[in-house]
Amino acid sequence: MNKKTVRDVDVTGKRVLVRVDFNVPIQDGEVTDDTRIRAALPTIQYLIEKGAKVILMSHLGRPKPENRDQFKMDPVAKRLSELLGRPVKKVDAVVGPEVEKAVAEMQPGDVLLLENTRFEPGERKNDPDLARKLAALADIYVNDAFGSAHRAHASTAGVKQVRPDLPAVAGFLMERELEMLGKVLSNPERPFVVVLGGAKISDKIGVLERLLGLADRVLIGGGMANTFLKAKGLEVGKSLVDEEALDEARRFLEEAGDKIVLPVDVVVADRFAADAEAQVVPVDRVPPDWMILDIGPKTVEQFAEILRQARTVFWNGPMGVFEFPRFAEGTFAIARVLAELEDAVTVVGGGDSAAAVQQAGLADKMTHVSTGGGAALEFLEGKELPGVAVLDPA
Ligand code: 3PG
Repeated sequence: MNKKTVRDVDVTGKRVLVRVDFNVPIQDGEVTDDTRIRAALPTIQYLIEKGAKVILMSHLGRPKPENRDQFKMDPVAKRLSELLGRPVKKVDAVVGPEVEKAVAEMQPGDVLLLENTRFEPGERKNDPDLARKLAALADIYVNDAFGSAHRAHASTAGVKQVRPDLPAVAGFLMERELEMLGKVLSNPERPFVVVLGGAKISDKIGVLERLLGLADRVLIGGGMANTFLKAKGLEVGKSLVDEEALDEARRFLEEAGDKIVLPVDVVVADRFAADAEAQVVPVDRVPPDWMILDIGPKTVEQFAEILRQARTVFWNGPMGVFEFPRFAEGTFAIARVLAELEDAVTVVGGGDSAAAVQQAGLADKMTHVSTGGGAALEFLEGKELPGVAVLDPA
């Protein structure tokens, strides 16, 4: 990685402002999936051990003025404190006198969590005033929020933009994400196989284009496959189809030839429901009133055979509606195949596929499970992420 990291700066006794991505699911005041909090622990623990004053900030969800209360960071502070085994002080503001006082009272090794950065209207607008107030809290800025690095917001990019003299370095999570995803992009060991799924094509055209250029095979499942099947002229019944992307899908099929591998059989349902009637049919026998909700067993076997030859695998997007157990088998089967690959680098792009791998209990069997959804896709598309661009060069 060509960026400085926390290892390259002397943090002892310094006020270190760390942008983390603690955008985690919360239900009834409890964090229901703490993966992203755990992923940031190595950086936080390192800073504590070095005697830094650790000031953490993150966004949580997409709050509106009328529903702010459910997006407060208190449940996150509680979970973080449990995971660290030490108190985490939480303030009810992002900037202002309460925050300044709390920072002034910090001792080396203390951890402070600011309120949800999106409570400040200037955050998403990358308002220089807000960025300056945040920068004033810090001697060093650390960005460990890979999941938010594709956002040019005050806390992810603005702080360094308004204070070019402020040391700005990557945390360990950011470093690992860039390294692992970078490996997929540059010189992946071959065969390099990409598995793509999820609902839509239109928001993944850029990444599909890039990965088709890089990979040896691209296996397509999930809602995305329906659009390709329809583009081939097959009847897909009431399946979700990204109509706007049909022309693109046709173009990809023409250009990529047999590099693109589509399902040969699918699990269809009579309606979109967890208890829907289900049956397995070949892709050319989808009944007109039914919808495709998963890949079928023959497809799993075909995908598995290709994956077993792979030396590098990148997976983004589930193979079906895995939230419904009856239509989860395709997604979980692919997760199991990846988990069993011994000689391959397996990288799972964040979002739903990361959640599926977690649910299957197989996350620790992958080489890397990214904490970034949109950020991972933008990175793989070759875009420069604003939260990375601002970091000091190594
Ligand atoms: C994510 O969950 O992908 C990141 O935290 C970014 O969240 P956002 O899409 O609301 O900016």
